Amino acid sequence: MKTVFSGIQPSGKLTLGNYIGAMKNFVKLQDEYHCHFVVVDLHAITVAQDPAALREQSKDVAALYLAAGIDPKKANVFLQSHVPQHAELGWMLTTLTAMGELERMTQFKDKSQGKESVGAGLFVYPSLMAADILLYNADLVPVGEDQKQHLELTRDLAHRFNHRYGEFFTIPEVYTPKVGARVMSLDDASKKMSKSNPNPGSYISLLDTPAEIRKKISRATTDSDSVVRFDPENKPEVSNLMSIYSECSGLSLQDVEKRFEGQMYGGFKKELAEVVLSVIEPMQERYREVRESDELMNILNASAERAREEASKTLDEVKKRMGFVL
Ligand code: AMP
Ligand code: TRP
Repeated sequence: MKTVFSGIQPSGKLTLGNYIGAMKNFVKLQDEYHCHFVVVDLHAITVAQDPAALREQSKDVAALYLAAGIDPKKANVFLQSHVPQHAELGWMLTTLTAMGELERMTQFKDKSQGKESVGAGLFVYPSLMAADILLYNADLVPVGEDQKQHLELTRDLAHRFNHRYGEFFTIPEVYTPKVGARVMSLDDASKKMSKSNPNPGSYISLLDTPAEIRKKISRATTDSDSVVRFDPENKPEVSNLMSIYSECSGLSLQDVEKRFEGQMYGGFKKELAEVVLSVIEPMQERYREVRESDELMNILNASAERAREEASKTLDEVKKRMGFVL
């Protein structure tokens, strides 16, 4: 059976972009693959985190995984810091990574831009991400568009290791959704929807109330020609809303276009809000149940134990090949 690995950082609330770009595919893949869906808390600390908030947000993300439909009987759901092999392999892969490769990463450039002091962890972040994936010899990595560059580096590092120490790591493939790989901001379609945007009107949090969601969608930027047509180049805002509609309803973009032929944006937005809520409301209900239950930590602990067992096998082999005394 082929293996899937993906992770989401517990830094702030998750957005509809995280759901459409990543989590929705996690749920889809769990039936056919051996899956690890991880809360990557070691990645989150590459920018300053308040300890109490980090603890809560880590459990929030784990609960959202389950609420989105990930079944812990089918997939492993755990916290990255519970499996020390991630950090260990991360260090080893850092020694195989060139400074120049890390300097080219757009996420690093974005996050470090204009900062007086930048943590070294933020710089070596992609080597740790490579370790996450290679530790389980994952074949497939479901992520949004913005992670493709990190995936390319992971593949390069796997090739490099295999070349130097003999064929061992599986070369992972990226898996992005056809339509929603890059959900854009509601107020500016040139930026991706992100929880770190200071304007909360620019994103839909998976934990926003229905009233907030309706309001945010009704205020989303559109254009002046009032035709619901998919044309990302000339109508980026409306095309973004249509992609969200398509991903939440299951209708193709063509069908969305047909459905709103001759209609104004007002009606389209109203229906869009209901379609988004039809996905988010049941998720929130399950989220509240799971988040409060003792079951959550039991699931995370049992999954971490299975993951440690798998990860230690890979790490032992890596150590042997690299020349460590076992
Ligand atoms: P992060 O919140 O940066 O840890 O991202 C977690 C996952 O969600 C990654 O696979 C991202 O590519 C994906 N993601 C985040 N924001 C978006 C977005 N606006 N559109 C599509 N995918 C996204
Ligand atoms: N870098 C990813 C993000 O910001 C999160 C992540 C860490 C990840 N490790 C991973 C995603 C391994 C996929 C596989 O979204």
